[in-house]
Amino acid sequence: MKSQFSKLLVATAMLMFLSVSLAASSSPCKFPAIFNFGDSNSDTGGLSALFGQARLPHGESYFHSPAGRYCDGRLVIDFIANSLELPFLSAYLDSVGSNFTHGANFATTGSTIRPQNTTIRQSGFSPVSLDVQYNEFYDFQPRS
Ligand SMILES: *[C@@H]1O[C@H](CO)[C@@H](O)[C@H](O)[C@H]1NC(C)=O
Ligand SMILES: *[C@@H]1O[C@H](CO)[C@@H](O)[C@H](O)[C@H]1NC(C)=O
Repeated sequence: MKSQFSKLLVATAMLMFLSVSLAASSSPCKFPAIFNFGDSNSDTGGLSALFGQARLPHGESYFHSPAGRYCDGRLVIDFIANSLELPFLSAYLDSVGSNFTHGANFATTGSTIRPQNTTIRQSGFSPVSLDVQYNEFYDFQPRS
């Protein structure tokens, strides 16, 4: 129960982060890129790059092949990218076919805000917690 609550809390917190970014996008600005942090709500292939492809349906109803998503099609982040006329976000951890010209996605399924002290096999939580995602972003910025 506590674990379920934690997951819900993380999902809610990450969605709030996304919402704040969205609120900013209601102005007529042209956004050149998206940098996303989160969990399965917005994972476009991060966990799949680390631990193997997501199980079915892994986004196939839209992408027609495994697309690293923990859903049967597109995620909200895909629709956001689309509405900003940007390409789908590449997962920062995915080296296959990625293009970071218009941003990067640091989200991985099962990510938490606090660092994990267990392995993904023990707890099911991704080792790529928010601080790790931030470190990835911090490292990515000067090199992009
Ligand atoms: C990456 O995307 C940009 C913008 O969509 C495009 O101009 C560029 O050719 C792409 N790079 C590769 C290697 O596909
Ligand atoms: C991991 O361990 C540290 C040090 O004992 C603790 O402060 C932290 O809260 C733990 N994290 C989790 C998610 O349990």
